[in-house]
Amino acid sequence: MASALVPGTRVVSGMRPTGRLHLGHYHGVLKNWVRLQHEYECLFFVADWHALTTHYEGPSVVAQSVREMVVDWLAAGIDPHSATLFVQSDVPQHAELHVLLSMITPLSWLERVPTYKDQQENLRERDLDTYGFLGYPLLQTADILAYRAAFVPVGEDQVPHVEFSREVARRFNHLYGRETDFAERAQEALRKMGRKAAKAYEELRLAYRERGDSEALGTARALVERQPNVTLGDKERLLGYLEGSGRLILPEPQALLTSQSRMPGLDGRKMAKSYANTISLRETPEDVTKKIRTMPTDTNRVRRTDPGEPERCPVWALHGAYSSVDTRAWVERGCRSAGIGCLECKQPVIDAINAELAPMRARAEELEQDPLRVRTILAEGARRAREAAEETLIDVRRAMNLVWD
Ligand code: TRP
Ligand code: SF4
Repeated sequence: MASALVPGTRVVSGMRPTGRLHLGHYHGVLKNWVRLQHEYECLFFVADWHALTTHYEGPSVVAQSVREMVVDWLAAGIDPHSATLFVQSDVPQHAELHVLLSMITPLSWLERVPTYKDQQENLRERDLDTYGFLGYPLLQTADILAYRAAFVPVGEDQVPHVEFSREVARRFNHLYGRETDFAERAQEALRKMGRKAAKAYEELRLAYRERGDSEALGTARALVERQPNVTLGDKERLLGYLEGSGRLILPEPQALLTSQSRMPGLDGRKMAKSYANTISLRETPEDVTKKIRTMPTDTNRVRRTDPGEPERCPVWALHGAYSSVDTRAWVERGCRSAGIGCLECKQPVIDAINAELAPMRARAEELEQDPLRVRTILAEGARRAREAAEETLIDVRRAMNLVWD
């Protein structure tokens, strides 16, 4: 699959470990990650520091959820050979970048992020009048910019945070500008390409810069992208040098909006932990059966002989997510004519959910038997993440004049 990767294009996303993952996470986020891991260089991490911003009074749920969540990711099909998986607190560069960016971030920017006031009001039972909570979007910004991510797959609710990270990146680049020793560093990077490739690059660069040969530009770009021994930072330098544009220290990321397949919950509302209407990814077949069988249906169908209306029934929403056109036609007909009973109607949904969960449950069980495996995956992931983030931090420290010898 590696050949399908878009070179130099990184995707970063995180998830807060605050409890069991459920079908809403699977359909809304994980399936998308599974697809992306084959298309881009992906880094997926457990945002345990972010979880602490709201759960600092009872952090044990965070600790417990970390490995559970990674097991769920792997069970859902995230492949540690394709994507880099790690825990945020294992990569101190996120914290360092957060501190450095905090120097240039106006308080008013943080105060006007819509999630700030909303969440404080929604989570009244928690005291969120903290410095950490106010800084939540900036920590997320550090998560993203540390890897110079091009894309950040998120749900709609997170778009303002990605927007915020773009503003911070822009401000950083405006304040600290392009690298002053840019040309020298590009030359240095060029030497790492090897003599032959470097010579070809120089010829193509001149063809473009002196004669405007755009074909040469394209060829040179492809040449740079192909270089195995050149870091991402150096690649950007070489691309900037080609076009005479210099190099941005922190590129602006873009939100990759997850096509919000809103997974309906057991009560017809969106599936969410706070609504207590979820089916977890580790649910047993018996519990799935029980949960669906006790789901409310169209309240007008008191007796088996009363006709019903699917549009007024939360089970119908689940048929929308799981059933074929034929099954749905069978439901519509059978419900409106009282030809089928509600338990009968629910059975195909029960079967579909159980069929979907069975392989995930099996993989999760296997992983639970082998705690060392998850630990190894996360250790290796953290090592790779630290290396990638450190590359950015070297440039950021230098830009902020934190290099004193
Ligand atoms: N704030 C995100 C959420 O609640 C989680 C998150 C933390 C994240 N850091 C991130 C998502 C960086 C994308 C990129 O869903
Ligand atoms: Fe809902 Fe199906 Fe019962 Fe109709 S038959 S009310 S769609 S569960």
